[in-house]
Formats: sequence, structure tokens, C-alpha cells
Amino acid sequence: MEIRKMTETDLPEVCAIEQDTFSEPWSEEDFRNSIEDINNGYLVAVIDNKIVGYCGYWGIAGEGDIYNVAVKKDYRGQRIGYQILTALLGDAAGRGITSLTLEVRKSNEAAIHLYESLGFERAAIRRDFYSKPREDAVIMWMKPIQ
Ligand SMILES: CC(C)(COP(=O)(O)OP(=O)(O)OC[C@H]1O[C@@H](n2cnc3c(N)ncnc32)[C@H](O)[C@@H]1OP(=O)(O)O)[C@@H](O)C(=O)NCCC(=O)NCCS
Repeated sequence: MEIRKMTETDLPEVCAIEQDTFSEPWSEEDFRNSIEDINNGYLVAVIDNKIVGYCGYWGIAGEGDIYNVAVKKDYRGQRIGYQILTALLGDAAGRGITSLTLEVRKSNEAAIHLYESLGFERAAIRRDFYSKPREDAVIMWMKPIQ
């Protein structure tokens, strides 16, 4: 598996996974705007020339907000999420980001376990943060990046 920076030509494949995964998927335009900003870091995991996962953060004043994490359904449970997020931590640390935060649905045990296994800690609950379906968010932090 190769992990590399997300580029514009990756966006159709990324968005296919995004639409298959989330009830309110980001559009190609959302991803394009995110990868064009040099403060942000977006990565893809590639197997046999196919994108099997991606993640990304927005960097603002030394802090990174992780907005996107997904692994293609048939490829879950193979530590791809772990590896791509480990690469994201390295990318962020290498660019002077000292802490990372994210929100995750309270019921999303797979993602919460993954984040905890990387060293993120639960910090707070944001009531009714999500719609489709409505649900609380768990806010997690890694401070400093490990
Ligand atoms: C969350 C997600 C990215 C995990 O990716 P993945 O490649 O399947 O995860 P990994 O194989 O790297 O698992 C890493 C750890 O996460 C945890 N984990 C993964 N899947 C799990 C599951 N179904 N149930 C419980 N824990 C799980 C485990 O602790 C695992 O550690 P282990 O290998 O020691 O058991 C993937 O399930 C996904 O794309 N989900 C839908 C999108 C999503 O929820 N994104 C996050 C939004 S905040």
C-alpha cells in the first residue's frame, strides 16, 4: 500500500467512497477547496492503483482539525485507517501542527476505537451536532501530537 498526498485527479474516486460512506457527503468542490489550501494536509491510501482510503485536516495557527477519514467498505479492518492516520500525524507534526482535534458520532465505535488507539482522548460532547440522523458528537483531542 502506498500513502501519498491527495491530488485533483483523485477526487472522483475519493468522492465515490465519500458518497458510499456518509449521509451528507462532501462534494468534489469541497475537497478541491480543501486540498488547494497549503495549510491543509490531505492523504490517500492506494492499493493496485485504486484509492482505498483517505483522510485530511485543516491547519490553523498550529492546530489541526481533522474533517475527513474514510476507508472503502471492502477494505476495512485491515489497519488502513490506522496507517493513513499515522501518516497524517507525521505530516501535521512535520508542518508545525502541535495539536489535533476531530468530531465523531457518539455511536461510531469503530472510529472512536481507532482514534483512541492512536492517542486521541475524549474531551467533550457536542449535543445534536449531526443531522441525518441527529446525533451527539464526541470531540476528541491529541495534544501534543504523539
Ligand atoms: C473508521 C474507519 C476509518 C476505520 O478504518 P479501518 O481501516 O477499518 O480501521 P483499522 O483496520 O485501521 O482499525 C484500527 C483500529 O480501529 C478499531 N476498529 C476498527 N474497526 C472497528 C470496528 N468495526 N469495531 C470496533 N473497533 C474497530 C480497532 O481498535 C482497530 O485496532 P485493532 O487493529 O487493534 O483491532 C472505517 O471503519 C470507516 O471508513 N468508517 C466509515 C467512515 C467513518 O466513520 N469515518 C470517521 C468519521 S469521524
